Amino acid sequence: MAEIAIIGGSGMTSMEGLSITRREMIKTPYGSPSGPLIFGEFDGCSVAFLARHGHKHSIPPHRINYRANIWSLNSAGIKKIIAVGAVGGIADECDTGMLVVPDQIIDYTHARSGTFFDGKPNEVRHIDFSFPYTESLRRSLIDAANINNVPLIDGGTYGVTQGPRLETAAEISRMQHDGCTIVGMTTMPEAVLARELDIEYASCAVVVNRAAGIGGKSINTDELSAAIQSGMEKARKVVSATLPKVVV
Ligand code: HPA
Repeated sequence: MAEIAIIGGSGMTSMEGLSITRREMIKTPYGSPSGPLIFGEFDGCSVAFLARHGHKHSIPPHRINYRANIWSLNSAGIKKIIAVGAVGGIADECDTGMLVVPDQIIDYTHARSGTFFDGKPNEVRHIDFSFPYTESLRRSLIDAANINNVPLIDGGTYGVTQGPRLETAAEISRMQHDGCTIVGMTTMPEAVLARELDIEYASCAVVVNRAAGIGGKSINTDELSAAIQSGMEKARKVVSATLPKVVV
């Protein structure tokens, strides 16, 4: 039985190399997840895969049913999640094509259902979220990248915006002052919901553009699509090399 799941973002709506054994659409008290959980064997490891934006990439970040996604993974017995997603680079070293395994989050989203502990009939609980990503899982990603000579930045703050529009230059400037390294739209509330259910969670973020206003240019969204394809190849390589280390 799979204990680890990959949540694939833009550019990763399926998992190449996965020999699929079963697909299951799990009903949850929160409604439907983004799609069926795909179970299979990858390089001898049992894994599950979920396409965050749906198989046809039709669900925008603010409409993802994060609670149903994490609930479905938990009810399938998943204990660890590697989340892959595209981001914009804010820090100088976060050039297009770079991979980042962040260690902090600033949440700028609004009106997303971000907890399982929202009162009656559920309990009220305040969980510790000082360190939002699971360090051991982060390490496994970083080690796998190092062994395979894939350049990757260890640590950084993922600023999460509401989307689906990209940010203004002033918003990115503010995020830069806040200490954000990268900007994306999906790690929250995914990470906190995983923590609430005691699921280990780490993110492999792929930089697909320089964030708004950096370098004084507008963002060319055609270039962004091309960068997603090539960046996701690198992420796939790192995730594939990580799986044998984290599957027990
Ligand atoms: N901003 C927010 N999310 C993103 C970006 C960005 O520049 N690029 C890819 N996802």
